Amino acid sequence: MLCVGHCCIDYISEVAAYPTEDEDIRCVSQKWQRGGNASNTSTVLALLGDTPTLACTLANSPEKQFLVTDMAKYGIKEDGVVYHDGVACPSSVVICSLASGSRTIIHSNQNLPELSVEDFKSLPLHTFSWVHFEGRNLSNVLMMQQMLRRAYPSAKISSELEKVRPDMDLLTLNSDVIFVSKDYARHLGYEDMKTAAQDIAQKAATGRNLDVNRCRTVIVPWGEDGASGYSEEEGLVSCEASVPQGGVVETLAAGDTFIGAALHALSRGKSLKTTLEFSCRVAGLKVGLKGYEAFG
Ligand code: FRU
Repeated sequence: MLCVGHCCIDYISEVAAYPTEDEDIRCVSQKWQRGGNASNTSTVLALLGDTPTLACTLANSPEKQFLVTDMAKYGIKEDGVVYHDGVACPSSVVICSLASGSRTIIHSNQNLPELSVEDFKSLPLHTFSWVHFEGRNLSNVLMMQQMLRRAYPSAKISSELEKVRPDMDLLTLNSDVIFVSKDYARHLGYEDMKTAAQDIAQKAATGRNLDVNRCRTVIVPWGEDGASGYSEEEGLVSCEASVPQGGVVETLAAGDTFIGAALHALSRGKSLKTTLEFSCRVAGLKVGLKGYEAFG
């Protein structure tokens, strides 16, 4: 499994309750953690027993050692990392509220270049049976997917449409599976996960022609409501969220966790129904724990 996307540092402050503007408060705990959607998804795949490779760019900055050491700790292969000199490491300031379970993210990426098509081509692409793309760096990612589709037609491609950015739906063209976040689905005008999954899948099927629009499976995770999915074989399938025994502790990267678990199941040939059940369970476990260390 190859995961293509972003890796950054998350500076996480856990607070009893979310502060009001201009307040001066103390946090309950504070830590650094490797973050970024593709990076988090790789962590989950690794914890589930896969050996993911993460393809991303990283700054040759003081944070680099922390990030690559942490990748190695989880068994994530770093052959796909491209280093850049003279740029800053992207980071997020994250406020996790214990009262509400919310995670507020303020992200900064000053000048780290995105992964280029040339960087991608230099990877041993023939060794991957599944390549997952975070929905960012859109024009390059579209070229990467087209190139992959032509050169290695049997490799499965999945994409995550999470953040609302223009033309993100073009990622359906060459993807076998797409994950559509609640935010993105709402941006498309959907109010619930079932309608979103079914309608997005059916629209993809209507626009299909021989070379493009391979999207056969649409998965829509919807936080505390669970997730819905639609595939040609199984139609519409839904699953309730799994609630952690000790309550919600940290929702940061719950979506990335859900996707990691889904990729793990789908790449083993599991049905959509089993995949949704498994992913909701794993995401439920994650939100009951802080970070990934206690997760294994
Ligand atoms: C969680 C996350 C964080 C990162 C942020 C980037 O989904 O990947 O780890 O800081 O989103 O938007």
